[in-house]
Amino acid sequence: MSLRVEAGQIFGIVGYSGAGKSTLLRTVNALERPTGGRVRVGDVEISALAGRELHRARQRIGMIFQQFNLLRSRTVYKNIAYPLKLAGLGEAQILDRVEELLAFVGLSDKALSYPSQLSGGQKQRVGIARALANRPDVLISDESTSALDPQTTGEVLDLLRRANREYGTTILLVTHEMDVIREICDRVAVMQDGRVVEHGDVFDVFAHPQHPTTRRFVSSVLHHLPSDETLRRIRARHPGRLVQLDHAPDESSDPLVSRVARDHGVGLEVVYGGVGELQSRRFGSLTIEVSGAEPAVEAAIVDLVASGRAAEVTHA
Ligand SMILES: Nc1ncnc2c1ncn2[C@@H]1O[C@H](COP(=O)(O)OP(=O)(O)OP(=O)(O)O)[C@@H](O)[C@H]1O
Ligand SMILES: [Mg+2]
Repeated sequence: MSLRVEAGQIFGIVGYSGAGKSTLLRTVNALERPTGGRVRVGDVEISALAGRELHRARQRIGMIFQQFNLLRSRTVYKNIAYPLKLAGLGEAQILDRVEELLAFVGLSDKALSYPSQLSGGQKQRVGIARALANRPDVLISDESTSALDPQTTGEVLDLLRRANREYGTTILLVTHEMDVIREICDRVAVMQDGRVVEHGDVFDVFAHPQHPTTRRFVSSVLHHLPSDETLRRIRARHPGRLVQLDHAPDESSDPLVSRVARDHGVGLEVVYGGVGELQSRRFGSLTIEVSGAEPAVEAAIVDLVASGRAAEVTHA
């Protein structure tokens, strides 16, 4: 695979279990070595480093985990102080930094608590504070919200967004939940069988998913496009040719639809669709069956496609 993440982005990687997401992520801080190819972080080729240099490069990369990975025998304060100690900071500097981080994650009153006394969301906030301790350029996150309920997930994602905005931290985030991608990512890559099968702006990928796997992920959280399974059921009931039409302003009275029906004397029946919102932009899609005499159907589809808003459904 070849993937480029721009500085300052929140970049999501989504895929089913076994796709290779964690493996990819672990190459970014060289916990895993690629057998071929290179991994660069900033202007450092991390996949070629070892020893002290690798250690230094890793300090520029924070990591958070699904299972938080906190030190159970140490207080919240000491968990966050740990990477600062490793980096060689003095006690006074460590105190300042830990206090700042505790305030940032909203846990100033928990400095002396132990991990076992915290909720899952609080543990992950400690994990984030620890990962941000050395002010890394990059934060990598492997399913960091997968063990949390939706409300707590939202709080953790808010915190990641703040880290991105306030500290300028580039975030590379792995998840199998499309909702997480929708919530905070700028760009997304979809992985399958060790490869990137699709990537792009979150809005574009959600509005126009190309690969079947992407379509399944998108239709799991947005309901404007039928999944391939749903499409097969629709086809069983609607044998005519199907067209997908974007951004229908109003499902019942899209002027394009009524004009094409009138001009070509065809039937246009909405068989699936919806309108939603993503990154404050409205978007939606209608799946329409075109029925009538074959030449008229063909002409109607050509007309719809010429509008630039429609494409014939050829998959499933
Ligand atoms: N490009 C690759 N080259 C070599 N091995 C790979 C590659 N991609 C994935 N694998 C192997 O596939 C297996 C699953 O990969 P990995 O754990 O990264 O998947 P995942 O997407 O994180 O899955 P999960 O969602 O279950 O965490 C691992 O044994 C890993 O070594
Ligand atoms: Mg994984």
